[in-house]
Amino acid sequence: MTILDKFKALQGAYDAVQSAGRDPFSVCFDEVLSPSEAVLKGRRVILLGTNNYLGLTFDSGCIDKAVEALVQAGTGTTGSRIANGTYGDHAELERRLAAFYGVRSAMVFSTGYQANLGILSSVAGRGDHILIDADSHASIYDGCRLGNAEVIRFRHNNPDDLARRLSRLKGQPGNRLIVVEGIYSMLGDTAPLKEIAAVKREWNAHLLVDEAHSLGVLGGNGRGLAEQAGVEADVDFTVGTFSKSLGAVGGFCVSNLPDFDVLRIACRPYMFTASLPPSVIASVTQALTRVQEDPGLRTRLSLNAQRFYRGLEAEGFVLGPQVSPIVSIRMPSTEVALAFWNALLEAGIYLNLALPPATPDDVPLLRSSVSAAHSGAQIDTAIATIAAIGRDLGVVTEPPSRRTETAKRQAGLPEGLRQPAHGHRHDRAPVAERTL
Ligand SMILES: Cc1ncc(COP(=O)(O)O)c(C=O)c1O
Repeated sequence: MTILDKFKALQGAYDAVQSAGRDPFSVCFDEVLSPSEAVLKGRRVILLGTNNYLGLTFDSGCIDKAVEALVQAGTGTTGSRIANGTYGDHAELERRLAAFYGVRSAMVFSTGYQANLGILSSVAGRGDHILIDADSHASIYDGCRLGNAEVIRFRHNNPDDLARRLSRLKGQPGNRLIVVEGIYSMLGDTAPLKEIAAVKREWNAHLLVDEAHSLGVLGGNGRGLAEQAGVEADVDFTVGTFSKSLGAVGGFCVSNLPDFDVLRIACRPYMFTASLPPSVIASVTQALTRVQEDPGLRTRLSLNAQRFYRGLEAEGFVLGPQVSPIVSIRMPSTEVALAFWNALLEAGIYLNLALPPATPDDVPLLRSSVSAAHSGAQIDTAIATIAAIGRDLGVVTEPPSRRTETAKRQAGLPEGLRQPAHGHRHDRAPVAERTL
């Protein structure tokens, strides 16, 4: 018996995943060529699973600022924010974030994960209650585990269930903190934020919105779902990350609460870790400028998201409930998801494989994230490739319009040359239109 024996079942599941082809959890690019293309084992692939929503990882302005800071200030701060790790540029980025959101204060963390860890574990203490959406990101769950508050899960995107659970706390002392996400990372659906804000007001709770996937994506100014829903005044804490639309790494929390800055000496994941390198701070500050000055990035992203979602929908795939830059295809089983993911990689498309238990309702997903940097041709190639493999594996049948064309073509051929119908090849049982 060794200390790692508890992972035997997990190792077994991982071995099964690896035996199906390439290891989806250790993909290593030879070279990343642009926000939308890379080389993987000598083959060019379209990147369709990167969270690089605005395509800013190769923005020349962001790169120039990062290089400048690297040369001027060195490779790292080698210290935490409360020791030697705060430079003028860290403080300036915090001022910029606070001004962007129109609030008093901002704190920059070394990752988005740590922002959730830090804020949740410190603002809600013993005797308080945190009410989290059941589909919350791991960083939200882990932030709850790090603190001392009671944690209550409510049904995903269900304000009535939230209200019911708050009503059961009536008369109990302590504060209530509701936690939701702007765009949910697995299925791309948004929180019903107007309704959640109304529940928050009714029950005199606090509200934290994690805009990790919605910053730079939603809202007239790119501030996220709360801006789009017109409820920013109801949000007490906005958490975000620099690792998605801003193309770097890091996280933040902004708040209008007058005493927010006390967290700088109370929040352990802020205090006891090294601060972000100056080059990262510089590129993020420039990326924020791009978000503010170039609304065309959001428009392009939105058009690309529409094109990809509608294209896959027309091919008959079962997707998340709404158009969003996160487009996930529901898979009938883990085996099919693995075969699909491997076939896509062979065909030059990289996207994310998301397996239970990390997915809502334990449904395996092929998760894509669209970027403003994708060309229309890349999106169309991806749709056509996904559709062809989907038909091969029996995940979808041919859409009715194309079925007629194929039938006409086939009818003109001698019998021996007619192709078997897609979805019935390779002895795989068709799994089309299975209820998920
Ligand atoms: C909703 C949500 N919050 C927080 C994070 C953590 O962000 P980071 O990767 O910047 O640590 C993620 C990352 O995927 C996320 O999806």
